[in-house]
Amino acid sequence: MNDLATDTDHMFWTRARRHLLRYGGDFVPFVPARAEGSFLYDASGRRVLDFTSGQMSAILGHCHPEIVATVRDAVGRLDHLFSSMVSAPVVDLAEALAGLVPDLPRVMLLSTGGEANEAAIRLAKLVTGKWEIVGFTQSWHGMTGGAASATYKAGRRGIGPLAAGSFGIPAPNAYRPRFAGVSWRQELDDSFDLLDRQSTGNLAAFIAEPILSSGGVLVLPPGYLAALHAHCRARGMLLIFDEAQTGVGRTGLMFAFERDGVVPDILTLSKTLGAGLPLSAVMTSDAIAAEAEARDFLFYTTHVNDPLPAAVGLKVLEIVIRDGLAAKAQVSGARLAAGLRGLQQRHACVGDVRGRGLLLGLEFTATAGKDAAFISDAVTDAALELGLSANIVRAGASGGTMRIAPPLTVSDAEIDLGVELLDAAISRVMPAA
Ligand SMILES: Cc1ncc(COP(=O)(O)O)c(C=O)c1O
Repeated sequence: MNDLATDTDHMFWTRARRHLLRYGGDFVPFVPARAEGSFLYDASGRRVLDFTSGQMSAILGHCHPEIVATVRDAVGRLDHLFSSMVSAPVVDLAEALAGLVPDLPRVMLLSTGGEANEAAIRLAKLVTGKWEIVGFTQSWHGMTGGAASATYKAGRRGIGPLAAGSFGIPAPNAYRPRFAGVSWRQELDDSFDLLDRQSTGNLAAFIAEPILSSGGVLVLPPGYLAALHAHCRARGMLLIFDEAQTGVGRTGLMFAFERDGVVPDILTLSKTLGAGLPLSAVMTSDAIAAEAEARDFLFYTTHVNDPLPAAVGLKVLEIVIRDGLAAKAQVSGARLAAGLRGLQQRHACVGDVRGRGLLLGLEFTATAGKDAAFISDAVTDAALELGLSANIVRAGASGGTMRIAPPLTVSDAEIDLGVELLDAAISRVMPAA
C-alpha cells in the first residue's frame, strides 16, 4: 500500500469513528468498494472471498446481473406506492410463494426479518386471542419489540421490560449437550412441562428457526420439528417458522422445514428472499388469514407490498428454481463440509463441523492452553488478512462457531480456495506443535 492509500485509509476510519454510531461491536477493518459474485474488493483491488453472503443473504452472489437489471427496470418504472395499492409484481410474488408452500397461500410482503416476525407474532396473538410467545434460548428473530422479545441470543439487557409473556426453552445441542445422557425428546418434553407450570394459560405461539444460525448453527435433529408441532397443537399454540437464513435453497431444499414434513401455521422469509435487498414475507393459511381479517388485523407500514423489492424477490425465486440452486447447495455443501472435516482432522482446535447444505458451522474448542474464544477470534482476523471473510457467533458455553454460508452460486474452485485460506489462518494461529 502506498502512502496516499494509507492516508486515505486513516482519514476514512477517522471519519467513520467520528460519525457512525456503533450498533454491534467493532467494524470489520476491510472497506469494500465493489462486489461481484463471491468476492468483495476494496479500493486498491484487494479481494476478499465472502463466505457469509453479506449478512447471510446474498444467495446469488453480489451484484448478480439479472438482479441488477431487475432493480434498474423496477426503479425506473414502478418503485413505491401508497400502502393500500397493490401491483402486479406483488401479486406475482405472492402467487409464486404460495406455489412453493400450497398450505400457506396468503402472503404479506415487508422489508426486514425482524419486521416479518413482528407481524407473525402480532398475527398469532390476534387470531388466538392469547399473548404468550415461546422461543429458543439461543434464538435470533430481530430487533423490533415483539421479535426482540422472542430473541434470547443477545440484546435483552439495558432496554427495560420486554413483552410480558415471553418464554424460552433450550434448543438441543448435540455437540455440547446441557445434560449428558438426556435425549432431545426428553429435553423438549421437560421444557414444555416447565412452560406449562409458568404459563398463565395464554400460550399463543412458538417461533423457531429450523437451524439456529446466530445461536451457533444448531441443527434441530430429524423428528424435532414434528415433536414441537405436536406440543404446540396439544396447547392450541400456533407454530411459526423463521426461515430468514434457511429459506430459498440455502440448506439444499427450498425450505428447511421440508426435510421434516412439518408445515408451520406461519412462515417468515427474509434475508435470502431478497438475496441481499430488503424484502421479507409472512405466509399463512387461508383459515388464519380469514380469522385475522375478521379481527381487523393491522400491520400497515410504509413499504408493505412495495413493487420494487417484490420484483426482486420474483427474480430471485425464478433464478433459484431455474438454476437448480437448492440442489446445487446440497452438492456444494457436501464439498465444503468435506473440506471443513479435513480441517477438523488436521487441527485439534476444530471441535465440530455441522450444518446442512451451504449453511455450515465450524466450532472451535480450547486447545494447547488457548481458549476457544481467543482461537476463533484470532482465526477470523487471520482469515480476513489472507482474503476470507467469515464470522463468529458465540452462544452460552460455546467459545465460538464460525458461520460459513457462501452464495449458492459459489464455484468448486471458490469453495476449495475458502478451505485453503481457512487452513492457512488456523495454521497461523495454532502452528503444529
Ligand atoms: C433467523 C433470523 N430471523 C430474523 C432476523 C432478523 O432479520 P433483520 O435483521 O432483517 O431484521 C435474523 C437476522 O440475523 C435472523 O438470523
